[in-house]
Amino acid sequence: MKRRRFLSWATGALVVGAAAEIAWIVSSFVRSRSRLALSTPDSLVVAGRIEEFDKGSVTAFPGHRFYLARLTDGGFLALDRRCTHLGCSVPWDEKTGRFVCPCHGSVFDLRGEVVNPPAPRPLDTYPVRVENGLVRVDVSRSLPRGRFDERQVGRP
Ligand code: FES
Repeated sequence: MKRRRFLSWATGALVVGAAAEIAWIVSSFVRSRSRLALSTPDSLVVAGRIEEFDKGSVTAFPGHRFYLARLTDGGFLALDRRCTHLGCSVPWDEKTGRFVCPCHGSVFDLRGEVVNPPAPRPLDTYPVRVENGLVRVDVSRSLPRGRFDERQVGRP
């Protein structure tokens, strides 16, 4: 009798676990679909005209969570302000030409790569489009990355 009761209880637990897992999978799918839906033209921020940004400069956009870095070769990178260590907002230090996190001292270069840890990876990026002389940043989602890659750079 005890064995039958145990088997009945175990079966019930398995059914509840399977139902919870299915609910989690469905909600993950719905969330990812809604994130895709945010990628509308409304999520494109016009940063400015190409010539407004000097090579080797960083421009802050206070109303948004990114910096626009113009690389020395003329390409554009939109870098997330949040430190990849614990998420503090990272200011650009014009004197040193580095992003220096005030929380635990992580340092990032112009391309957002880690110069000094504890940050485990470069600053996240946002996709950049350079068309018709305008630089646009897609702020619908930031993109984590393991290291700098030329494909992250927006070019005319
Ligand atoms: S949050 Fe930036 S170094 Fe810790």
